[in-house]
Amino acid sequence: MSHPNLTLVDHPLVQHKLSLMRDARTPGPDFRRLLREISLLLTYEAARNLPLKHETITTPLTDMEAPLLGCPDPVVVSILRAGNGLLDGVLDVIPTAKVGFVGLYRDEETLQPVQYYNKLPPEISGRLVIAVDPMLATGNSSAAAVDLLKAAGATDITLICLLAAPEGVDCMARVHPDVRIVTASVDSHLNEKGYIVPGLGDAGDRIFGTV
Ligand code: URA
Repeated sequence: MSHPNLTLVDHPLVQHKLSLMRDARTPGPDFRRLLREISLLLTYEAARNLPLKHETITTPLTDMEAPLLGCPDPVVVSILRAGNGLLDGVLDVIPTAKVGFVGLYRDEETLQPVQYYNKLPPEISGRLVIAVDPMLATGNSSAAAVDLLKAAGATDITLICLLAAPEGVDCMARVHPDVRIVTASVDSHLNEKGYIVPGLGDAGDRIFGTV
């Protein structure tokens, strides 16, 4: 497994929260809260290269040239449905981000993505586009989502995923090597049903209580 553009966030806070999420005994409300918190911390890395502008502000003591986020606002795209578990964490730290949704489900037989929804903000070219999906498993869904984003004009794409499988990382390196990946872990492997091992199970089911 290799990827030219992968950031593994091994910060103790992220790793601790991730272990709590992996634990099958962790209840849904805690799982959702932890995912939102980790999302916020992964966004910190994903947004590292955002451009800054400088404007004069007045502190209680003096004027200063202060760094502020430049334009245009980033876009965050939730890959439904599990991506919604990461969405609020991104918006907590980038509240001005525009939001899009891509609906893909995984055909359980073929493991191939099937698109059922696509609603993106206009003019996504020239913006940082942060796609969010907790699980980078085979990579097929993420690659298909990135295809849609590129077709809509996106050129600067970062994928935030909580967990990745080596197979998914390899797939993205092959199909979209320009897309940065920010993740909390690259796990061991995929099992025969396409689940990440050791993983945390079905992220959507655990977020939405549909187990
Ligand atoms: N999707 C999930 O929710 N979990 C996995 O382990 C793989 C894909």
